[in-house]
Amino acid sequence: MDCPETVGQLTDVLRDGGYLADRGLATALFVSLSLHRPILLEGEVGVGKTEVAKVLAAVLGRRLIRLQCYEGIDTNQALYEWDYARQMLHIRALSERQVADSDAVDKLFGPRFLLERPLLEAVRAGDQAVLLIDEVDRADDEFEAFLLEVLSDFQISIPEIGTIRADSPPLVVLTSNRTRELHDALKRRCLYHWIGYPPAEREVEIVLLRAPGVSETLTRKVVAAVSRLREMDLAKPPGVAETIDWVRTLDFLGENDLHTEIAEQTLGAVVKERDDLELVRDNLEEITSGA
Ligand SMILES: Nc1ncnc2c1ncn2[C@@H]1O[C@H](COP(=O)(O)OP(=O)(O)OP(=O)(O)O)[C@@H](O)[C@H]1O
Ligand SMILES: [Mg+2]
Repeated sequence: MDCPETVGQLTDVLRDGGYLADRGLATALFVSLSLHRPILLEGEVGVGKTEVAKVLAAVLGRRLIRLQCYEGIDTNQALYEWDYARQMLHIRALSERQVADSDAVDKLFGPRFLLERPLLEAVRAGDQAVLLIDEVDRADDEFEAFLLEVLSDFQISIPEIGTIRADSPPLVVLTSNRTRELHDALKRRCLYHWIGYPPAEREVEIVLLRAPGVSETLTRKVVAAVSRLREMDLAKPPGVAETIDWVRTLDFLGENDLHTEIAEQTLGAVVKERDDLELVRDNLEEITSGA
C-alpha cells in the first residue's frame, strides 16, 4: 500500500497486520516513514521491537531485509562479498581455454560475482524495502561507526563496480536491548522510541489478537500474574512473547484458570532461568492469587 496518511491510519493497518501499536509508537513510526528518518527502538526483552518491523513490511507491501547484528559482525557480512568459489571456477575455465584478456579478468569483479548482503540489498531496493537492523547493541563500536556512514547518505561505493545509491531510502528500523549504550552520533541520526511493557488492558488485547480463540478470563489472569513476575527481581523478566506463550500453553492443556498447581507445571513457558524458577516457585501463591 501507499504510505498511510495519518497516525490513525498507520495504527489501523498495523492492527490488521496483527500488531498493536500505542499512540507514541505509531506516531514515531509515522514520522519516520514520512520524513525518511531511521527509527531506533529500544526496550525490554520481548516487547515487540523486532515484530513491528516485520509487520510494517508486510502491511506496506515492502520487502523485509534483516541485518542481524552480533559480536564480531564485520562490513563484509553487512555489505557485500565476492563469490570467491565461483570466481575460482571461472578462472579455471578461462585458463583451460587459454583466455587471458584483461576484459575477462575485469569481469571477475563484476556484478555476476557479487554477493549482496543486507545493506547493499537495502540500498538497491530503496523505498521498496524495510531494513531491520536488529540488536545493534550487540555489534561493536567500529561496526556502529560504519553503519552511521551508510545511514547518513545511503550510498555504497564498490571500487570495482562504482557507487550505488538509493534514490529514496528504505525505512530503517534499528532495535537495541541496551546491553550497551549506543553512540550519540548514531542516536542523533535516528528518531528514538522506548517500548516498555504494555499496560495490563493492552497486553490482554495483544494476547487475544495473537492467540485468537483463547479464553479472555484466562488471559486476564495470566497477564496479572506476569505483571507480578515483572515486579520481582528476576534475571530474565518475561516479555509479551512469554505472556502469549503461557496463555497458549494453558489453553492447549484445556485450562481455564490459573491456579498454583497448573502454574507450577507450566512455568517453563514464562520463566527461563534456574534461579528465577526457584524464586518464583517460592512465591507462586501470591503471584497467581487475586488476579
Ligand atoms: N504490540 C504488540 N502487538 C502484537 N504482538 C506483539 C506486540 N508486542 C509483542 N508482541 C508479540 O511478542 C512477540 C515477541 O516480540 P519481538 O520478538 O518483536 O520482541 P523484541 O522486543 O524484539 O524482543 P527481543 O528483545 O527479545 O528481541 C512477537 O512475536 C509478538 O507475537
Ligand atoms: Mg528482537
